[in-house]
Amino acid sequence: MTQQRVRVGIVGPTGYAGMELVRFIAQHPYMDVSYLAGSGAHTGPIGDVLPHLRRLSGLPTVSAFSPAACAESCDLAFVALPSGESGAIAVELATRGVRVIDLSGDLRLPGDVYRAWYQREPLANEVLARAVYGLPEVNRTDIAAASLVANPGCYATAAILALRPLVGWVDAQRVGPIAIDAKSGATGAGRGAKQHLQLGELANDFYPYRVGAHQHTPEIEQALDGVFRILLTTQLLPIPRGIFVSAYVQIDPDLAPAVHARYASFYESAPFVDVLPPGHVPHIKSVAGTNDCQISIAWNERTRILQVFSAIDNLGKGAAGQALQNANLMCGFDETMGLSGTALWT
Ligand SMILES: NC(=O)c1ccc[n+]([C@@H]2O[C@H](COP(=O)([O-])OP(=O)(O)OC[C@H]3O[C@@H](n4cnc5c(N)ncnc54)[C@H](OP(=O)(O)O)[C@@H]3O)[C@@H](O)[C@H]2O)c1
Repeated sequence: MTQQRVRVGIVGPTGYAGMELVRFIAQHPYMDVSYLAGSGAHTGPIGDVLPHLRRLSGLPTVSAFSPAACAESCDLAFVALPSGESGAIAVELATRGVRVIDLSGDLRLPGDVYRAWYQREPLANEVLARAVYGLPEVNRTDIAAASLVANPGCYATAAILALRPLVGWVDAQRVGPIAIDAKSGATGAGRGAKQHLQLGELANDFYPYRVGAHQHTPEIEQALDGVFRILLTTQLLPIPRGIFVSAYVQIDPDLAPAVHARYASFYESAPFVDVLPPGHVPHIKSVAGTNDCQISIAWNERTRILQVFSAIDNLGKGAAGQALQNANLMCGFDETMGLSGTALWT
């Protein structure tokens, strides 16, 4: 059977998530990048601003974004702009008949929740209702039928994948609040110049930020069907990329011997989630540059607390890789297309 080729646009290709989309899609057998556009600050060949992409052939030049030009040249578009800018553009493109994956937080939450956690005016609720939450391990069928997908946040992806097998399996009342200790590499904050991201600030330091107020908190609770209350602590690691989550859960001790089997069967048909054998732990370096998520669990008999660890690349499964996985599902392709490859250990 001849496969229909898909013309793909990337809005925001000079950002961290956008440039990873260009890199992934260049390896896709049935997708062609047909449109690249940003704010207008960078125009011309993408290799002029991103030298590692210089030798990719057949890429269009980067232009200033125009909805009409994008809709004309694409069947599907990724919109990877800052929250507050991205969602409205994604919706406009969807209205023009383009299938869209939005990587920002603008389409993930109901309006009132978004307003409270992002401190910004949301899009209209009827617009938000059109977007499907794009976590394939939870929502594969809905994504395949969607024309507008809200790609999950990076911390949210790592945390939800770590905890989702417990939903409907443990007694949430008995579990009580779940502590999630989450750490991210500096690219999680985007490419714009910010003082706290300069080498002299970030190197040799470590501290929590947005304590009690990180905007991925309601996203995680929502994707866990609202059954758990979570306490999320977010911290920046002095490394470029990667997310590591440690979650602490008070499950019924009688369930402890069955937890590993529960995780393994829950993710049996999830090609990117690797539930590690007992005694192993995830590494950020094991997933760097890939769309993989490594998960391990450990029952602590002394405290009767279950530890769940997960690692992803914030730009891979946390952003561009997951966006391409969603696009594959929306186009009827195998969800792994363009996403094979092993991490670079060092
Ligand atoms: N970084 C991550 O790990 C990560 C993970 C998950 C989700 N996300 C989300 O993905 C989105 C992109 O993140 P990022 O880290 O890639 O950001 P970034 O590095 O700051 O890049 C932002 C991109 O947006 C473009 N842009 C900004 N304003 C624009 C406008 N008004 N019109 C057109 N283009 C505009 C910039 O283009 P110019 O260069 O032309 O200015 C740049 O290409 C954000 O919503 C973020 O929350 C990021």
